[in-house]
Amino acid sequence: MAVNFEDQTTLFNFVVKQGNGVKGLIDSGMSCVPKPFIQPLSERIATPNARTCEAAQPIDLSQLDGPHHKEVTKQIVKASETLGVFQVVNHGVSLELLELLKTSAHEFFAQPPEKKAIYLKEVSPSKLVKYGTSFVPEKEKAIEWKDYVSMLYTNDREALQHWPRPCRDVALEFLKSSMEMVKRVVEVLMENIGVRLEEGRMNGLMGTKMVNMNYYPTCPSPELTIGVGRHSDMGMLTVLLQDGIGGLYVKLDNGEWAEIPPLDGALVVNVGDTLQILSNGRYKSAEHRVRTTNMGSRVSIPIFTAPNPSEKIGPLPEVVKRDGVARYKELLFQDYMYNFFGQPHDGKKSLDFARAD
Ligand code: OGA
Ligand code: NI
Repeated sequence: MAVNFEDQTTLFNFVVKQGNGVKGLIDSGMSCVPKPFIQPLSERIATPNARTCEAAQPIDLSQLDGPHHKEVTKQIVKASETLGVFQVVNHGVSLELLELLKTSAHEFFAQPPEKKAIYLKEVSPSKLVKYGTSFVPEKEKAIEWKDYVSMLYTNDREALQHWPRPCRDVALEFLKSSMEMVKRVVEVLMENIGVRLEEGRMNGLMGTKMVNMNYYPTCPSPELTIGVGRHSDMGMLTVLLQDGIGGLYVKLDNGEWAEIPPLDGALVVNVGDTLQILSNGRYKSAEHRVRTTNMGSRVSIPIFTAPNPSEKIGPLPEVVKRDGVARYKELLFQDYMYNFFGQPHDGKKSLDFARAD
């Protein structure tokens, strides 16, 4: 197909509306970064930052229920109170599955555009599956250099019926085998602030589960683009598998950015806004972003756990009592979510929606 890339509307339609994705653009022979992808200076990442952070040292989760319980708990708590992100090993997800996940992500995106475009949100045969490019491309100043497919979980039967064939089995297995670990980490964090959640409330807070596969095509000029802009995740906890290419950054307290280096066999766990709200600000959602690279195409596979849309979220009473102040309002998670998905990524601005006046 001959595409006139001089024309920005044609380009936007080709990439976003017709679902060719950034990958389609690169596959068409594009060897420079077109204007709609060029980030304002303030968002660019000039050079890969060699600096790493505490998250370079993974936490061994197999020690959580043994004699080292206290130490491991301390590590999880400290990371959640500061960076909002850590890496885990011995997490209960098989290493073989981790490899299969990366392969199937590549397999999904390697399909011809028309096989993926059926999942564009306007036409997807299932409400559970959505394929697209960038975050809210219609509203962004510059489009993110990323294609993705997201798979919402309701139950096994619907997942197997609706999720895309190249990834459904492994994605479902990943979701199921990591959920125990996610619940355990949430329990540890709650216990630490003196909260015991009843089963029903816990299930309500963890009721929305989604697996994404992100694809960051190799980029001719990484210094001009961004894979994912600065943001925090909206839910409770995110578990993320990244491949060996690297490029995931977290913002430190002092405003600098540090890389969360890929570690073979490890998973990244990060705190989302909901957990920050519930804990009245004690736990910090991680502000993170992704750099693009010209070394190859990167894949990552996050699992998002978030409350049911109808769940009330707000600082937990036990914590407010101790703190003497509620730093966030109580609201329905669906309202938080609607606001979150309604605007381009802008760091932790998403939390302002819930801030107490
Ligand atoms: C996300 C995200 C990071 C990555 O999908 O929310 O932050 O490494 N992804 O792809
Ligand atoms: Ni994220």
